[in-house]
Amino acid sequence: TPVQMSPLLKIHQDATSFYHHVLLTTQAGERGMKYARERELSEELLDHFQIGYAPNSENVLLTYLRGKGYSDDNLAKSGLFIQSKDGRLFDRFRDRLMFPLGDESGKVIGFSGRRISQDKTEAKYMNSPETEIFTKSKALFHFSEAKKAARREGHLVLYEGYMDVISAYKAGVHSGIASMGTSLTDQQVYMLKRTSRNIIVNYDGDDPGVHAEERAAKMFQQAGGFNLGIVVLPEKLDPDEYVKKYGAEKYLEEVKGALSPTDFFLKRLAKKYNLKNDRERITFLSEAVKQIAQLSNPVEQDLYIDKLAKQQGVSKDSLKINLMRERRRLF
Ligand code: GTP
Ligand code: MN
Ligand code: MN
Ligand code: MN
Ligand code: MN
Repeated sequence: TPVQMSPLLKIHQDATSFYHHVLLTTQAGERGMKYARERELSEELLDHFQIGYAPNSENVLLTYLRGKGYSDDNLAKSGLFIQSKDGRLFDRFRDRLMFPLGDESGKVIGFSGRRISQDKTEAKYMNSPETEIFTKSKALFHFSEAKKAARREGHLVLYEGYMDVISAYKAGVHSGIASMGTSLTDQQVYMLKRTSRNIIVNYDGDDPGVHAEERAAKMFQQAGGFNLGIVVLPEKLDPDEYVKKYGAEKYLEEVKGALSPTDFFLKRLAKKYNLKNDRERITFLSEAVKQIAQLSNPVEQDLYIDKLAKQQGVSKDSLKINLMRERRRLF
């Protein structure tokens, strides 16, 4: 006998088609369609990501799903409704563009809804609460599709936002995924490790994004065994904004030009000093050598020492002496 799909998964499957249908074919969905067009979401993209629209209503989803025969008990457990003190259910997501969140096999287990109104007192994104089937720390947007693409593209690309994954997809990166915001978890790192050792991190180019990249890089290094690339986009742009401003081709070049973690950290370090001042330059060089001394591969050490010497106009030999001293101190 075939395995029965759990009611919560069925509910999510039905809610996904409902929201998608509302967006694409109904009068109520026109608000959502207008927003989707503003964000340059083609019908092909709306289909691929199964994007939908939750109308501004207290109970359209509730009525629809009750009509399909689901019990209020299961509906309450799905997380798609809020429950009043007297136990009544109301649609949780209202007037939002709906992004389904899938599990590793692509079954929808939760949603994130983008506010489309101008009302800034409402959260920009609203997520499903934790349920029997939805664990935020394990959720990765677009993971099951990206896994297939990773075999072709040879890597996975990690983004901050759903819109970034979608614009990157449009630009030709089909292996994009996103955690829920900037806080990557150890569970997610573990899930990625089983999929691809080659990870490119491409968070937003603003300060929080670059900070989060630093944190992510350290987590991947801690886990070990990854070949990591880090993209820092100019002008504080996020990948979605970059693709719109500069186009697909330029964006793909940025991804190709991803920095190694050492390059990334050295660049960040250099920004902290005024390198025209000798004293600060000396401090920078000794901090940089400390970074390089952490590398276990002597070829890598040599490569970065060489680069640093050339960049800073100092002799490679002197940097190497400091490197040896540092390694003796460390190991
Ligand atoms: P757009 O404005 O739609 O382009 O969003 P974005 O993806 O550029 O958003 P941002 O860079 O501000 O945040 C990145 C990610 O953080 C989003 O995709 C969400 O997953 C998450 N996030 C942002 N704002 C909120 C919020 O208000 N609440 C929650 N729970 N998550 C948020
Ligand atoms: Mn469709
Ligand atoms: Mn951001
Ligand atoms: Mn962003
Ligand atoms: Mn954005």
